[in-house]
Amino acid sequence: MSQDAYRLTSPSGSEMELPVRKGTVGPDVIDISRLYKEQGVFTYDPGFVATGSCESAITFIDGEKGILMYRGYPVEQLAEHSSFIEVAYLLLNAELPTATELAEFDSTIRMHTMLNEGMLSFFKGFRYDAHPMAMLSAVVGSMSAYYHDEMDAANPVHRDIFAHRILAKLPTIAAAAYKLNVGQPFMYPRNDLNYCENLLHMLFAVPAEPYEVDPVAAEALDLLFILHADHEQNCSTSTVRMAGSSGANPYSAVAAGISALWGPAHGGANEAVLKMLDDIGDVSQIGKYVDKAKDRNDPFRLMGFGHRVYKNFDPRATLIREMCHKVMEKLGRKDTPMFDLARELERVALQDEYFIEKNLYPNVDFYSGLIYRALRIPTSMFTVMFALGRSVGWAAHWREMIADSNGKISRPRQLYTGPVARDYIAVDKR
Ligand code: SDX
Repeated sequence: MSQDAYRLTSPSGSEMELPVRKGTVGPDVIDISRLYKEQGVFTYDPGFVATGSCESAITFIDGEKGILMYRGYPVEQLAEHSSFIEVAYLLLNAELPTATELAEFDSTIRMHTMLNEGMLSFFKGFRYDAHPMAMLSAVVGSMSAYYHDEMDAANPVHRDIFAHRILAKLPTIAAAAYKLNVGQPFMYPRNDLNYCENLLHMLFAVPAEPYEVDPVAAEALDLLFILHADHEQNCSTSTVRMAGSSGANPYSAVAAGISALWGPAHGGANEAVLKMLDDIGDVSQIGKYVDKAKDRNDPFRLMGFGHRVYKNFDPRATLIREMCHKVMEKLGRKDTPMFDLARELERVALQDEYFIEKNLYPNVDFYSGLIYRALRIPTSMFTVMFALGRSVGWAAHWREMIADSNGKISRPRQLYTGPVARDYIAVDKR
C-alpha cells in the first residue's frame, strides 16, 4: 500500500486504495475518481460540505483559523495596502502588478465601462420597482448577445477581454438599475474617475447639478470590494464554474452566478441583515429574536451569522466592523443606533451557548449593510454591491476552469430514492 492512500474495504470484502493528493496548504483530498468504476458506489455529500470540486490556486480559506488569502496574500494586508483594482489584477493574473502593469490595467478597465447603447433599452422594459439583482442578472446575461464575436474561450486574449468587460461594465449596469428604481436619468461613466468614484458618480450624480464624490465613501467601497472579491468555491462561484464547464458563454455563466448570489443564505444575507435589524427594532427585542434563531421549529435564522467554512470569526467581518465605526464617524452619520443594535446583538449571540456550540460567528454580511446604508445606498442594492466585488472572483475562476486542459463538464450523481421500475397503467385502469 502506498503511503499516500486510504485503503477501502467494501462490505463484500473487496479492497482498493484511494490516492491522497496534497495541496500547498490546507487539507489533503482523497481522489475518488476510480471509486464508481471499481466499487460501483458513489460518495454522498449533500451541499458538498466535505467535497473538493476542483483544484484551484486563487483563494485559500482556513475556517478554523479564520484565514483568507488571495493568491497567498492575507486579506488583512491587501485591505491595508492595496486597492480593489490592484486586487482584481492579482486575482486574474496570479501576481501583484508592477506600477506600469497596474496603470495599464486600470486604464483598460476605465475604457470598458460604457455599455452598448442597445443594452440601455432593456431598462425601459423593466418595472420601475424591479429588484436590482433581477435586472443585474438579466442585463449581464444579455452581454452574451452582444459580445459573442470575441468569445473564443480557447483564445487567452478573448479570456482577458471577458474579464475586463465583466469588471468594468457591472458597475454601469448596477447604477442603471438603481437609476430606474429611483426614476432618475442614467448617468454615463466617466473615465477620469477611478473604479469606486465612478460607481458613486453613476449612482448619485444627476444632470441638474455638479456631484462631488466623497473620498471617504469611495475609500469605504474600495475596501468592501477587496473583502468581497473572492472566496474559494462558494455557492455563486461554483455556479459560474458549473455553468462554464459545459462551454456556455461566460457572460451567461456569470449571470447564473449572480442569481445564485441573490439567495438570502448567500449574498442576499446583507440585505436580510438590515431587514432583520429593522424588525428587531431595539435592544429590548434582541432576546426574542435570538430565541427564535435557536428554535429548531422556527425557520428564522440570525442573518449575517454562521458560515459553511468559518467556524471562527470571518476575518472580513472583523475588518468591516472596524471600518463601520470609522466610516460612520467620518461621514458624520449620527444614525448609529442601528450599529449599536448590531453590536449588542453580536455580543448577546456570541455569549449564547447555542451559538458557541455551533460555532456561529458574524460573517461578511453582518456589518457590510450598515456601511452601505451609511453611504445612502438602499437595502435593495446591497447584494448588487456584493456582486460587484465578487465579479472579479467569478471571472478569475471561470478563466482557471476553462484553461484546465483536464477540465470536465460538472455532472454530479445522486442517491435515487424514487419508485423502482413499474409498468404504465391505462387511464381507465387507474
Ligand atoms: C456568504 O460560502 C461562502 O464563502 C459564502 C460567502 C462568500 O463570501 O461567498 O462567505 C458569503 O454567503 C456568507 C453567509 C451569509 N448567509 C447568512 O448569513 C444566512 C444565515 N446563515 C445560515 O443560513 C448558515 O449559517 C449558512 C447558510 C451560512 C451556512 O449553513 P451550513 O454550513 O449549511 O450550516 P447548517 O445550515 O448546517 O447549520 C449548522 C447548524 C444548524 O443547526 P442544526 O441543524 O445542527 O441543529 O447551525 C444552525 C443550523 O440550524 N445555524 C444557525 C445559523 N446558521 C446555522 N442557527 C441560527 N442562525 C444562523 N444564522
